[in-house]
Amino acid sequence: MTGRHRWPVLFAALLTLATISAASAKTASAAAQPSVMLEAVTGSQPLPNGIQIQAGPAQLRITALRDDIIRVRIAPGATLPEDASWAVLPASRTSSVDVQPAQDAASVGFRTASLDVRVERSPMRLVVRDLAGNIISTDALGRPTTFADGGFTVYKDMPADEHFFGLGDKTGTFDRRNQAYTLWNTDVGPQEAVDPLYKSIPFFLAIGRSRAYGIFLDNTWRTWFDFGKQARDAYAFGAEGGPLDYYLIYGPDPRHIVEGYTWLTGKPPLPPLWSLGFQQSRYSYSPESKVREIADRLRADRIPSDVLYLDIDYQYRNRPFTVDPVKFPNFPEFVSDLHTQKFHLVVITDLHIAHVANQGYMPYDTGHAGDHFVKNPDGSEFVGVVWPGPAVFPDFTRAQTRAWWGNLYAQFVKDGVDGFWNDMNEPSVFDQPTQTMPLDTVHRIDEPGFATRTATHAEIHNIVGLENPRATYDGLLKLRPDERPFVLTRASYAGGQRYGFTWTGDNSSTWNHLRLGTQMILNLGLSGISFVGDDIGGFNGSPPPDLLTRWIEIGAFNPLYRDHTTLGSLPQEVWVHGPQQEAIRRRYIETRYRLLPYIYTLADEASRTGLPLDRPLFLEFPEIFASPTADADSIDTEFLLGPDLLIAPPPFAEMLDDYTVFYPKTLWYDFWTGLKVPPPPTPPTITEIANAAPDTKFPEPPKIHPVLDVLPVYVRGGSILPLQPLIQSTDETPDGPLELRVYPGPDCKGSFYLDDGHTFQYQHGDFLRQTFTCSSESNAVIVHFDARKGSYAPWWKNIEVVIYDWPSAGADVKLSNASTPPKTTYDVASHALHILIPDAASDTELRIKGQ
Ligand code: GLC
Repeated sequence: MTGRHRWPVLFAALLTLATISAASAKTASAAAQPSVMLEAVTGSQPLPNGIQIQAGPAQLRITALRDDIIRVRIAPGATLPEDASWAVLPASRTSSVDVQPAQDAASVGFRTASLDVRVERSPMRLVVRDLAGNIISTDALGRPTTFADGGFTVYKDMPADEHFFGLGDKTGTFDRRNQAYTLWNTDVGPQEAVDPLYKSIPFFLAIGRSRAYGIFLDNTWRTWFDFGKQARDAYAFGAEGGPLDYYLIYGPDPRHIVEGYTWLTGKPPLPPLWSLGFQQSRYSYSPESKVREIADRLRADRIPSDVLYLDIDYQYRNRPFTVDPVKFPNFPEFVSDLHTQKFHLVVITDLHIAHVANQGYMPYDTGHAGDHFVKNPDGSEFVGVVWPGPAVFPDFTRAQTRAWWGNLYAQFVKDGVDGFWNDMNEPSVFDQPTQTMPLDTVHRIDEPGFATRTATHAEIHNIVGLENPRATYDGLLKLRPDERPFVLTRASYAGGQRYGFTWTGDNSSTWNHLRLGTQMILNLGLSGISFVGDDIGGFNGSPPPDLLTRWIEIGAFNPLYRDHTTLGSLPQEVWVHGPQQEAIRRRYIETRYRLLPYIYTLADEASRTGLPLDRPLFLEFPEIFASPTADADSIDTEFLLGPDLLIAPPPFAEMLDDYTVFYPKTLWYDFWTGLKVPPPPTPPTITEIANAAPDTKFPEPPKIHPVLDVLPVYVRGGSILPLQPLIQSTDETPDGPLELRVYPGPDCKGSFYLDDGHTFQYQHGDFLRQTFTCSSESNAVIVHFDARKGSYAPWWKNIEVVIYDWPSAGADVKLSNASTPPKTTYDVASHALHILIPDAASDTELRIKGQ
């Protein structure tokens, strides 16, 4: 008997179990919910934007929000649950397109301009096809959607060529296939295979050889996803409570799926430029003199850097929103001195408020007076032990509590603190067996768009890490309306990107955690969280010299670039381990600063499209999946920064073995040497191998010998990268020309985005955006500058255009609108022609002809 045929038997058992356990169900909603299986359509009514279907006692409503995004809501009884969401933007959730009803003897459904959506009558299952009739996604046959024991399970077909990505910060493997996961925000270091972790992002991409789509299950309860761990040919997802409400986002381009998901849940805000600089942190720099020592050393050693952090020890008795008056006796002066040194200061402000009544601790006294804390079922404040000892927890599901919380930042804002770090917000509670608050603690939802009601922690747990940074972000906006907030959160839910940055939590100083960081950052990016990094050097433990160096090298290409470590570990700053290591590390941090115009341009793109900065190869080269073996999907150490930079660390960075870089099929240049990478030989086909003489030597792809001071980085042929002269902090104005590196190749283009880096004036036209293209003719390259958009004045007077792959110093260079030819120099080693031109703001052409 195959696994598939056994399912009905299992279901019958499950059903019996569910019925028996209904009386002793854990939650109120479980007790109210009978067990139901959706086996056959018993009625249907077309809607202008979809269809309403009955399946026995159950209701289904499938609607089209866009032609390529459908929403599926299913209830076991007559009424659908409350139509509200913490994650989905109201404007997206309520948008709709008209559909064309479609039905036949076997199915009911509708068509949009890109999808054919059918529910087969019996056995009942949802089948989504493209308009050519190709199946995109289908419920698994013989495995009906089931409600039991207060929760539900949905099963979908899982073809052999399908791979799964997303789901936030999970470790284990990059591709989620053959794994199962729980989403329940948990304070636990990302050990190699620990699950659940800090974030719950119930969104994944399913990508096969010829189809791709995403599913977002908008359910804040404890949810789970099983991509073939239990069954070979079906994946499943479900929750222990709450609504069955999911969105299917059609690709087929994976980029389009991420764009669709962030259309639903929001784009990240454009961060302040300084947050993309190098950040130095530890648990904890304290007292004040220690922070000053670090600041001085960073400047003395000329390590470009922008941010310093204060972890919990700057506080008085670990009480959030206090400053220890002994360790930091003159806080405002200290902040201002750091600003003079061109540093920005980020301080930790955990959500747990010390439970100290009437001792002059304003956050507790005002929070208690305003009734802002989560309650026990008996109405008393829930108290749990965290860093300050006994603590209470703001009920962030209340708009008025978020407003109160936001105002707690008033003094820090007055003192000039630049950014804030919301940690421990799973929430972590040390003295509870579950490490979080009991499931029956009571939250009071008071939120536009929601019914005002109480909800247990079982429903709210996973969104504490969403609503806490939201309260911080919104509060800062109110206090400093023209300053972009910087908020760093550890826990999150879908939509968390709207409030800024996150990091992967308490990693360890091991080579494997360095490797893991890339996978996590890539999957978080696919889950909508663009601005993310890991603790450089590792949090737990102390890295050996080479590991810290490699981490600083790779981190230079991650959105958040923060060196952080734990209490009691060895010093982990750039200069530890001596001048040789420091010199290598400095070079990579300098490269990061030289690349800031490119990185900031990507940040702007992320804020408009939702595309992550760090991208898996398949996001730019989806054809990778078309190969029969699709090996490239498992590449989890190589990644792209934006569309143009390929970072290719050794797959196991601690090993000395030579390795082969996987180059997506196009032209590549070496970022460091500027030289073209010879195209790797085409691998022989199976038939060629089979027919070859026994000792035939097929050409092998070239191997790279790993050396510590070189992280292989490549530039896509056909790109134009903007770089700036070196600065020590983003508070400095670069001195010199903007550099535009032109790497001729197919579909050659580039762009830059610039603004004042910290206010919202860009929303009123005070920005600069320009696109460039380049084309090659027999022995000529033409670079075209499109007219600039926006009113922001650039910092440069000249542009240095660098044309790579140029054969010799001989060049006739013509700049439209200029009477004299620009000055050129030639660099033999990099085959690059350097051309200095005046700033080109309007439509301009630069024509370079070989002599
Ligand atoms: C948590 C954080 C860590 C921080 C520490 C002390 O472990 O993840 O980054 O340093 O708490 O606040």
